Amino acid sequence: MQKRIFLGSIALAVATLAAGGVMAQTSNTFKIGLILPMTGQQATTGRQIEAAARLYMAQNGDTVAGKKIQLIVKDDTSLPDVTRRLAQELVVNEKVNVLAGFGITPSAMATAPIATQSKTPMVVMAAATSSITQASPYIVRSSFTLPQVSVALADWAPKNGIRKVITLVSDYGPGLDAEKYFKERLTFNGGQVTEALRVPLRNPDFAPFLQKVRDGKPDALFVFVPSGAGAAVMKQFLERGLDKAGIRLIATGDVTDDDQLNDMGDGALGVVTSHHYSAAHPSAMNKKFVEAFGKANKGLRPNFMAVGGYDGMRVIYEALRTSKGQGGGDALLEAMKGQIFESPRGKIFIDAQTRDIVQDVYLRKVEKKDGQLYNVEFDVIKDVKDPGKAK
Ligand code: DHB
Repeated sequence: MQKRIFLGSIALAVATLAAGGVMAQTSNTFKIGLILPMTGQQATTGRQIEAAARLYMAQNGDTVAGKKIQLIVKDDTSLPDVTRRLAQELVVNEKVNVLAGFGITPSAMATAPIATQSKTPMVVMAAATSSITQASPYIVRSSFTLPQVSVALADWAPKNGIRKVITLVSDYGPGLDAEKYFKERLTFNGGQVTEALRVPLRNPDFAPFLQKVRDGKPDALFVFVPSGAGAAVMKQFLERGLDKAGIRLIATGDVTDDDQLNDMGDGALGVVTSHHYSAAHPSAMNKKFVEAFGKANKGLRPNFMAVGGYDGMRVIYEALRTSKGQGGGDALLEAMKGQIFESPRGKIFIDAQTRDIVQDVYLRKVEKKDGQLYNVEFDVIKDVKDPGKAK
């Protein structure tokens, strides 16, 4: 019932939009509705992406194809019902040209029908469950997917003495993707997942799970938790003496998040992760990016969320430039597909078929450089497509 009312209100909103279409087309403002968790458990995701979007605009100007870019930032507190309401308001009242942001998977999923019905391109800058891009033909992703980064670690582990693994993931989309793809590939490679543990997304208490891991005596614990929760996992892992019991910690790079890594202490040294971005990525473009980001944000180090926001802005700017601001949402969407460019993370590509990102995935180890902890890349798998799309 609630769903019917909701869809009805979208239909009305879309009709209103169509009536206002002429005005929107001749407007000289191009509006980006950036919906992010600015407060609550995922607040660092919002802080990183907003800072990156503002940096992109500061570096590239706020006029494209004769239109003035206006960034409208809204805080969804990472509650999907709030994300959906804000998206609807942005589309109907503000007549935004693009929806962007989306800190967690449920927020992106809740907004997908609004993008479809209003024909508004929706740039997912953070959320990383494989299936998100299939929820609307108007979704384009500039972040990553969990299958994309998890498989590389499952190839590395058995070659490095790790055969018996317990997995520990947040119990929702990206965690289930990480668990599934890590396990499949590890098993294929002759390893074994002996136990698959899932912790709640909201207010997780890792302690009882880590006790189980200790008792299970695996060669390694594989972890996925979303950005912002990694430090708590690391702290509990060390406090419970899992490292001393000979259990290695391996994870997706969400755990050794650059936003928190430097505060995790030397206990994090040696942790191997796989991911698509490290602040220590040794390219000229990344050095400039990290420096400019820090300068504009009191020394803050950009993390993988920031790079998703920065590149998402590039996708939007370039689409506006090449479509010359003509043709509305559909033309903009077409111009987003197939973009290929250098990012601070390396070369990236928006696959025109899937609207998902194709990128290099790195194996990294936490090391100290100039007295600071970094994820130092030691291997790369080039041009990785989301393995979730092949199924
Ligand atoms: C998602 C959120 C995160 O903070 C992250 O690091 C990975 C995935 C998500 O909800 O999709």
